[in-house]
Amino acid sequence: MSEDKVYPVPESIKQGAHISFEQYQQMYERSLKDPEGFWSEQADKFLDWFSKWGTTCEWDLSKGDIRFFAGGKLNVAYNCLDRHLESRGDQTAIIWEGDEPDQDESITYRDLHERVCRFANAMKARGVKKGDRVCIYLPMIPEAAVAMLACARIGAVHSIVFGGFSPEALRDRIIDADAEVVITSDEGVRGGRAIPLKGNTDKALEGCPNVKTVFVVQRTGGNINWNDGRDVWYHDACAEASTDCPPEHMDAEDPLFILYTSGSTGKPKGVQHSTGGYLLGTAMTHKYVFDYQEGEVYWCTADVGWVTGHSYIVYGPLANGAKTLMFEGVPTYPDAGRFWQVVDKHNVAIFYTAPTAVRALMGQGDEHVTNTSRKSLRILGSVGEPINPEAWEWYYRVVGEERCPIVDTWWQTETGSILIAPLPGAMDLKPGSATLPFFGVEPQLVDDKGNVIEGEGKGNLVINRAWPSMMRTIYGDHERFFNTYLAAYPGKYFTGDGARRDADGYYWITGRVDDVINVSGHRMGTAEVESALVLHDKVSEAAVVGYPHDVKGQGIYAYVTLMAGEEPSEDLKKELVKLCIDEIGPIAKPDLIQFAPSLPKTRSGKIMRRILRKVASNELDSLGDTSTLADPSVVDTLIEDRANK
Ligand code: WT7
Repeated sequence: MSEDKVYPVPESIKQGAHISFEQYQQMYERSLKDPEGFWSEQADKFLDWFSKWGTTCEWDLSKGDIRFFAGGKLNVAYNCLDRHLESRGDQTAIIWEGDEPDQDESITYRDLHERVCRFANAMKARGVKKGDRVCIYLPMIPEAAVAMLACARIGAVHSIVFGGFSPEALRDRIIDADAEVVITSDEGVRGGRAIPLKGNTDKALEGCPNVKTVFVVQRTGGNINWNDGRDVWYHDACAEASTDCPPEHMDAEDPLFILYTSGSTGKPKGVQHSTGGYLLGTAMTHKYVFDYQEGEVYWCTADVGWVTGHSYIVYGPLANGAKTLMFEGVPTYPDAGRFWQVVDKHNVAIFYTAPTAVRALMGQGDEHVTNTSRKSLRILGSVGEPINPEAWEWYYRVVGEERCPIVDTWWQTETGSILIAPLPGAMDLKPGSATLPFFGVEPQLVDDKGNVIEGEGKGNLVINRAWPSMMRTIYGDHERFFNTYLAAYPGKYFTGDGARRDADGYYWITGRVDDVINVSGHRMGTAEVESALVLHDKVSEAAVVGYPHDVKGQGIYAYVTLMAGEEPSEDLKKELVKLCIDEIGPIAKPDLIQFAPSLPKTRSGKIMRRILRKVASNELDSLGDTSTLADPSVVDTLIEDRANK
């Protein structure tokens, strides 16, 4: 082992874990040497098929072709529901914990199956059919899972838009996916506050003439506008619908969903996932990475609007017949002990959250944690950004009382499921390392020229082969898919992350190497925020970078150049912040705005972001070479005026 601090696997976890280190090594080796044999066995073990596939796996990343189990027929809702009815129909599938601590609900596999069939029929009655795109804009209520599974049941492709996105952002996504149906609710509730989802939907739809039906779930009973002929109450539509809805036989390669995510350039892209490979990836990782044991309550605190919610609240856990907890609220409401109160209330064994939440709670004092029992906890998880060792140690020591391994899971919207993470019964842990690759995943580090770095070293993280849950394309733009992920290093998938590999082969993700920033575990393209800022008629130019933020991981730092004759002011800053919130959503709110008379540019006019990042991060000793700038004195002014001195 290298010099890093190491936490060996606790004996209590090793006993009875699904995978030991020896098994991991054997299975991992086999998964790379004999992918056909390995994936065909796993697909048989984890999933139920209506009919067998032809070729198990074939890919050519230099062309952008990826196929797993092509020709095989299955249905995701059948795998998540129907096949469990006989053995665990009366067992809990979803535990819903509402925003208020006295609101909760348990839904059995049988109930969930019935609700899904009804809503699937309700959609069919409104003309939704296989291949159609359906937009879901819902809060964290069971109907979100019902809507996803109902789409899967009839072969419709869902596109979930996070409830925190603005009407503008919702509209862009509806138009890009050409969705004709939207599912929303009157309002959402988080931390005691109502969010006007139906109102936002109405605004978004002003620009979406193709949307014919809006299903509205009644969550709060709040006042909303009604558009006769277009709007339908979800409960009315379901009440009329039959509970008999045969699952559509889908090809393993048919799309299951689209999910928009930010990139370094342009508008968010619709990451498209497959049916068979995606479900296999999420089911396998849910079982092995969390060491899920029959009967345990498993809780992922993400929102279903993000990929983590898709894969680890809904699809992975339900495919495995697990009890999955869905939480409507926020970690600090009614108080900062809410997570641990919920853990005690529902006997949560596996708890999966983001470093930003850990850091926020760490700052609220240990009493909120220590006045709860948490004895049910067995495994802790982390996702979304690198977890700093201080947060890791606090999570381990205070929350897990040194008995629960922390699985630091590295993956992306594009990867569909976890690619690098410890298996709790197998790997010793090092705080801040996502440790070793999952089965079938072949990570490599490459330098900027594409040379592969062997052994210990640092580089750009690529994956040297396809894996089942890998995205298949960008909806409507296969060329963009190819150019974004596969063109940089032919034959390899480029993650956009940098990483280090230590002497034990452990991976340490160092963060994005492109113009994507990670704010509280949410991905934000700097170009998107810049586009919002330049909409203001007093702004001539904007450049956005990330900077280290104690709680959020990265904060948004915006450099704004005004039109000639315009004066900087606090009011203007407020207008700019509001513009970002309106255009994208509250997650895009700049934390710091600096008015810059001019931005550092090369002689060819390219903004030197490296310098902007250094100034924003207060790393003034390491600005690097500024001699290629058209006007090096610009930098002195930037430093002088920086917003976080
Ligand atoms: C980016 C993907 C899929 C999970 C939710 C975020 C960063 C994710 C880790 C981790 C270090 C991480 C990467 C990645 N990231 N997990 N355990 N350690 N960094 O999904 O929005 O698609 O963002 O999040 O930079 O590229 P996403």
